[in-house]
Amino acid sequence: MNRYENVGKAELKIGDKKIELPIYEGTENERGIDVSTLREATGHITVDPGYMNTGSCTSNITFIDGDKGILRYRGIPIEELAEKASFIETAYLLIFGKLPTSEELTAFSNGLTENAPLHEDIKKFFDGFPSATHPMAILCSVVSALSGYYPYSLDPKRDESEITSTAFQLISKARTIAAYSYRKSVGEPFIYPREKFKYCQNFLHMMFSYPGEDYVPDPDMTRALELVLILHADHEQNCSTSTVRLVGSARTNLFASVAAGICALWGPLHGGANQEVMEMLEDINASGEKIDHYINEAMKPGSTKRLSGFGHRVYKTYDPRAKVLKEAFHRLVHGKSKFRGKEELLEIALRLEERALKEDFFISRKLYPNVDFYSGLIYNFLGIPTAMFPVMFAIGRVPGWIAHWKEMRETKPPRIGRPRQIYTGPAKSSYIPIEQRT
Ligand code: MLT
Repeated sequence: MNRYENVGKAELKIGDKKIELPIYEGTENERGIDVSTLREATGHITVDPGYMNTGSCTSNITFIDGDKGILRYRGIPIEELAEKASFIETAYLLIFGKLPTSEELTAFSNGLTENAPLHEDIKKFFDGFPSATHPMAILCSVVSALSGYYPYSLDPKRDESEITSTAFQLISKARTIAAYSYRKSVGEPFIYPREKFKYCQNFLHMMFSYPGEDYVPDPDMTRALELVLILHADHEQNCSTSTVRLVGSARTNLFASVAAGICALWGPLHGGANQEVMEMLEDINASGEKIDHYINEAMKPGSTKRLSGFGHRVYKTYDPRAKVLKEAFHRLVHGKSKFRGKEELLEIALRLEERALKEDFFISRKLYPNVDFYSGLIYNFLGIPTAMFPVMFAIGRVPGWIAHWKEMRETKPPRIGRPRQIYTGPAKSSYIPIEQRT
C-alpha cells in the first residue's frame, strides 16, 4: 500500500525565531522534513550540494534501502524480476504501475514491434556523423531528433494514449538507433528489425547478423541481455533520471527530456563507469598480475584514484544488482553456454573483489562492488564493444525515465524545477570604462 503521512513536527530555531516543519513518512518508513515553507517563513534556504539529503519529489516507482541492499520496482524485489520477468514486462510495470495481464503484455509487445523500424530519413543522420563518433553522441542526437518525426508528442498536455505512443517509439527505437550506431562504427550495413523477434532477440539480430542471413539468437545471450536491462531499468532519483524530471518539468516533450537523460548518463561518474571497470580488468589481464597495484593505488593516503566499480552513493553494502549479475555470470561461464571457456575476466573480477574486501580500507568506507563491476563483463561476453556500454545502460534505463517523466507530469500542482543558490561572487561594483581597466 502506498503511504505518505504526516507523522510529526521538527522544530527549527533561527535566532529568536522558532518554526515548526512537518515530518512525513513514506511506505517504507523513510522520513523527510518538509522545508517547502522555510524561505517564506524565515528568509533562509537549505544548502545541500550534490543533493546528499534532498528529496526532490515523492515517488511510487522504485524503493531503495542502501544500507540493507534492497531494490524494488513497484514493490517487487529486483531478484524476483531478474529470475521471472522479461525486460518488456518490467518496462510495463515501471511505466503503468502494475504487472501486465497476458493481453496487455501482447499489446505492449506488438506496439514495440510496430515501432522498431526507423523512418528512412532518420537513417541519413548516421551518414553525417564521423565514423569514430561516440555512440552516446549518436543516441542522444537521434533520440532528440525523433520529436521532428512524431509531432503529436510535442504537446505533452494531450491524452494518455499519445504519451503511450511516444513511450513505444522511445523504448523500441532507442534499441534500433543503438544497433545502427554500432553498425556505423564498424562500417557494416544496417540490419532492419524483424517482426518475428522479441525485444532482446531483435537487438542481437540488428547488432550481429548479416544481410540475408537467417540469424538465430542464442537463448543464453538473449537471457543475459534481458537480465542486465532489467537491472538497469530504474534506480529512483539518480543523476540522469533527475535530469529527465527537471527538463520535463519545463513541459519539455518526452523525446527531448529522455535525450537530456542520455546526455547525463554519458558521464564517467554515471553510465560510463562500467567502461572504466572493463578497461581495468583488461589491463590486469594483459599485464599478468596488477590486482595489488590497483588496490594499493586506491588505498594510498590522499590518493584521488578510485577502485572502479566499488562504492555507490546510495548503497553502503553490496549493490543487489551486482549480486544478481555475479551469480548469473557464474552460471553462464560454468554452465553449458557459449560463454564457457571465457572465464578469465570473471576470475580476475572475483579475485579483485575478494582481495579488496579483505582490506579494512574498503570495509570501513563501505566500498562494495556496484552494478558496474559486473555489467560490463556481461556486455563484453555478448560481444558488445566497450564504447557501447553506456548505450546499453541507456536502453535499459529508458522505461525508468519514461515512468518518472509521466509521474512528474501527473503530480499536482505542476511546478517547474528551480533550485535556489547562495551567491558567493563579488559584491555590488560598477562598470569600468575599458581605458581605465588594469
Ligand atoms: C544508477 O543505476 O543510476 C546508478 O547506480 C547511479 C545512481 O543510482 O546514483
